[in-house]
Amino acid sequence: MYKLNIRKGMTEEEIDVAVNQALNMMTLKEKVATMSGNNFYLLLLKDHKFGVRAYPGGGVKRLNIPPFLFTDGPKGVSIPGSTCFPVPMARGASWDILLEEKIGEIMGKEARAQGANLFGGVCINLLRHPAWGRAQETFGEDPFHIGEFGAAIIRGVQKHNVMATVKHYAANSIEYSRFKVNVQISERTLREVYLPHFKRCIEDGCATVMSAYNKVRGEYCGHNSYLLRDILKGEWGFDGFVHSDWMNGLRDTIKGISGGLDVEMPRAKYYGRKLEKAVKLGKVPLNLVDDSVRRILRTTLKFTTKEDPLKYDSDVIGCDDHVKLAREVAEKSMVLLKNQDKLLPFNMDEIDTIAVLGHLADKKNTGDHGSSHVRQKNIITPLQGIKNSVGNKVNVIHNEGNDIDIAQQIAQSVDSVVVIVGYTSKDEGEYIPHISKGLGDRTNLTLKEDDIKLIDAVTKVNKKCVVVLVGGSAIIMEEWKGKVPSILMAWYSGMEGGNALANILFGKVNPSGKLPFTIPKDQAHLPYFDIYIDEIEYGYYHGYTLMEKENIDPAFPFGFGLSYTEYSYKNIRVESTDEKIIVNVDVSNIGAIAGEEIVQLYVGFENSSVDRPIKLLRGFKRVSLNPNETKTVSIEVKKKDFAWYNPDNRVWEVENIEYAIYIGSSSKNEDLLTTQISL
Ligand code: GLC
Repeated sequence: MYKLNIRKGMTEEEIDVAVNQALNMMTLKEKVATMSGNNFYLLLLKDHKFGVRAYPGGGVKRLNIPPFLFTDGPKGVSIPGSTCFPVPMARGASWDILLEEKIGEIMGKEARAQGANLFGGVCINLLRHPAWGRAQETFGEDPFHIGEFGAAIIRGVQKHNVMATVKHYAANSIEYSRFKVNVQISERTLREVYLPHFKRCIEDGCATVMSAYNKVRGEYCGHNSYLLRDILKGEWGFDGFVHSDWMNGLRDTIKGISGGLDVEMPRAKYYGRKLEKAVKLGKVPLNLVDDSVRRILRTTLKFTTKEDPLKYDSDVIGCDDHVKLAREVAEKSMVLLKNQDKLLPFNMDEIDTIAVLGHLADKKNTGDHGSSHVRQKNIITPLQGIKNSVGNKVNVIHNEGNDIDIAQQIAQSVDSVVVIVGYTSKDEGEYIPHISKGLGDRTNLTLKEDDIKLIDAVTKVNKKCVVVLVGGSAIIMEEWKGKVPSILMAWYSGMEGGNALANILFGKVNPSGKLPFTIPKDQAHLPYFDIYIDEIEYGYYHGYTLMEKENIDPAFPFGFGLSYTEYSYKNIRVESTDEKIIVNVDVSNIGAIAGEEIVQLYVGFENSSVDRPIKLLRGFKRVSLNPNETKTVSIEVKKKDFAWYNPDNRVWEVENIEYAIYIGSSSKNEDLLTTQISL
C-alpha cells in the first residue's frame, strides 16, 4: 500500500507537496473523516472520566498522516498529574509576558509528554463583566493586555511543536447562556474591543482556533462566515484550522462548512457521513471540503514533522522545576489592594500566635472544575503554606469560621489574623448542563453573607487582620473594605498557592501584582449582564473605559496594586520614528526593600473627532528595582496601535491629532505622568 513520505524535518514546500498528493489519493470518506474528532465516546466509556487523556481527530493512517491529539487547559494541561498553575486571570495580574511564555513552554512540554499535540488552553475572551463564570480562564478586561498574554503562551506552547488553540472565537463572555445567546455588536465594537486580541494571536502564528458556542449577529459562531471566512481566514490570512467547541458548537452540516468550520469536535455528528452525503448530492462543493482538509493536514504536518528541541519523557510532568515556576507565578500575581499602617508584611519575630480563619483556609481550591480542571493532588492550601513558612516560630490556630463566636474568640486571643474567603468552583466556573453544581456565572459580586459576618466579627476584636480573597475576577467589597487594614487578592493560585501566599504575608516576597480589571464600588457601574438572556448588546465601553467615560470612581482602578516598597516616576519623554513612538521614564525605588514595579503606558484620545475612550492601555513593562535604584524604562507603541476602525470604509485609521501619553503605576490619573505627541 502506498504511504506518503512523512518524516521529521520536512520543509513547508515538502509539506505542501505531500498534502497535494494526499488530497489526490484520499477518498471523500477519508477526507470527511479528517474533519472531526474520532472515537471520543469510546474513550470516555473506557475512562469513565473526561479529560484524562488526549482526544484524537484528523489523521489518515493509510497515508501515514498523524492525527491531532487534543487536551484542555488553561491553568495547566488537564491530563492528571500536570503542573497546576494559577489561573490565567491571576497570571494577567503578573503583567509578566516572559513568565507567561515560560508557562506556555512548560505546558507544551507536559502536553507532549502525555501524548498531546493540540492544546486548547488559550482562552482570551474579554472580561466584559466580572460575573462571567469563566472569567478566571482569561487574562483580563483589556484587549491589548489579553492579546499580549495570549501571544506569549502560544509562543511558549508552540516551541514544543504543540498546536495552540485560541478560544472561544468570538464574543463569548457569558457562561450560563453561552449555548444560545445572540450577541449584537457594532462593527467598531467588534473590531476595536472583542477581536484585537484574537488578531494578535493569529499574527503570532497560533495554529488553530476554537469557535464559540454563542451567536454573533444572529449566527452561531461555528457557522459564522463573517467571523470565520471573511475576517479570520480572509482579512487576517489565517491558514490553520478552525474547530468547534464541544457540546453543540456545530448544529448544521451545510451551515458549518459554508461558514468556514473545518473540524467538528469531539466527534462526527453533523460532519462525517452527513457531510459526505451533502457533497455527493451537490449541496456542498468539494472544494470547500478540500480547503478544510488541506488546512488540517498542513497544520498537523507542520507541527508533527518539525524537529523537536527536546525529548519529552514522562518525568517532566509536574517535575520540581515546573512546580517551582508555579510558585513564582503565584507570588508575582497576588495583588495587595490595601495595607493600612503597613500591617503587612507580618514579622515572625513579633508574632507568637496567628489565626488562620475562613472556609477557604485549608481548602485545595484551584478554581473551575469544568474543562479547565487540572487533576493535581499536591496542592498546598493557605493553611499549609503558612505552617510551612512559620515552622515552630509561630503558633498557628486554624478555624473555618462556621461558628462566628468561636472564630471571634480566637481572633481576640491571637496577635494577628488571616481571613481567607471568596469562591470555589461551585460559585463560578464552566457551566456544563446536568453536570455542573452551579450556574457557571456568579449571581452576586459581593462575598457571601457568612464571609462578611466573619470579617465583621474578627475586625471588631483584632485590628491586625488581613483579608485574603480567593476568586477569578472582581469582588465588590464596599460593605467591609473600610474595616479591614489589609486586603490581598490571591486568586485561584494553583498547586503552590499556599506557599506563595505565606511568602507574601511574611515578607519573603514583595507583592507586585496589579489588577487586570477594574473593581467597581457598585454593580450598577458595570455593563448590563443577565445570565439567562437570549440576546444582548455588547457596547463599546466596559471596565475602565466605561468608568472613565462616565466619570465613575472605581473601588480599585485597572492596573492598581501596592507593594511593600514605593516607587516614584520622573521625566517622561517621547521620541517618534516613522513606525512607532518610544516613551521613556525614570522609575525609582524610594522605599527600603527591593521590588518589582509594573509600568503602564496609556494613550489618551480626548482630541479625537470620533467617540473614543478617554485612554487605552498600549504598553507595559515589569521592572525590578533595588532600594534607591533608578532605571529608565522604555516602552514602544506602534503608530498603527493609535488607530480606530472606521466602519464606513472598513479600514483602520490613525488620526493626525495630538494624543496624550500617560505613563505610571496604574490607570488612575493621579498615578500617571503625562505628555503629548502629535501624529
Ligand atoms: C467546552 C469548553 C471548551 C473546552 C471544550 C473541551 O465545552 O467550552 O473551552 O476546550 O469543551 O473540553
